[in-house]
Amino acid sequence: MDASVPTEQGVACINGEFMPLTEARIPALDRGFIFGDGVYEVIPIYSRRPFRLEGHLQRLERSLDGIRLANPHTRAQWGNLIEELARRGPTEDQSLYLQVTRGVAKRDHAFPKDAQPTVFMMTNPLAVPEARLVSEGVSAVSAIDNRWLRCDLKTIALLPNVLLRQLAVDAGAAEVVLLRDGRLTEGSASNIFVVKNGVLLSPPKSNLILAGITYDVILELAQSGQIPCEVRAISEAEVRAADEVWLTSSTREVLAITKLDGKPIGEGRPGAVFKRMYALFQELKAGLRNPGPRAHA
Ligand SMILES: Cc1ncc(COP(=O)(O)O)c(C=O)c1O
Repeated sequence: MDASVPTEQGVACINGEFMPLTEARIPALDRGFIFGDGVYEVIPIYSRRPFRLEGHLQRLERSLDGIRLANPHTRAQWGNLIEELARRGPTEDQSLYLQVTRGVAKRDHAFPKDAQPTVFMMTNPLAVPEARLVSEGVSAVSAIDNRWLRCDLKTIALLPNVLLRQLAVDAGAAEVVLLRDGRLTEGSASNIFVVKNGVLLSPPKSNLILAGITYDVILELAQSGQIPCEVRAISEAEVRAADEVWLTSSTREVLAITKLDGKPIGEGRPGAVFKRMYALFQELKAGLRNPGPRAHA
């Protein structure tokens, strides 16, 4: 969430009970607080309708399976809770966050025997990137990806991502581009795409990156928009010599990275392929607001 958006407008839901976000309280012994023992999702809400809900719920299930926590809700129950929260939310477009933790229990690393999972949800106004960032691009710094080997799980234990993002913030940059064993993985809170000679490149899904919902949207739009693309390993040298580099996420959509470690990427401004993809993305969103025969949510 953008720090400039006031949390006073937020609405929360804890274990099915709705309340203003400022009144939401979780017990100190919740394993989410003590161990970071939980998983989460961030779902964009456009015109009070969740975007790519199925994809988010599928990924949530994968994350829950990955940490051996039973899903507390069916997909239909999740759908109802999310729709109700979006209905109560402060604005038409929202950023809806949900997390499931292993619940409240005496502090002990081992899984508690009889704890109930805690389901915390909140929704806040969605702050999409301002027009200047879209037209000028953002800068990034590179860093060694020192996270664990299950980056495919969307866990709330985000300290490594927090520390990596702060490297970017300290350098006055918007994101960190992560490299592991000389290959591109992703950003601290985004997927990274590269364009070379008109071809869109993205690292394959693996245990080393989060399978972004926006990542899928971008590849689908590339296909329908006839932008050639290749999903394959990308070397550090290829990132540095790219014509374009982009970051993608549910809240930042797609942004061009025009400077990496102080050096321009390509011509140092958002490229032609980015502009085309950005337009396709906005077209997709517009189609969701006015569902017609061409909308594909
Ligand atoms: C580490 C990481 N990678 C990628 C993404 C992008 O995922 P999505 O497009 O589903 O928002 C995120 C989103 O927060 C993330 O935290």
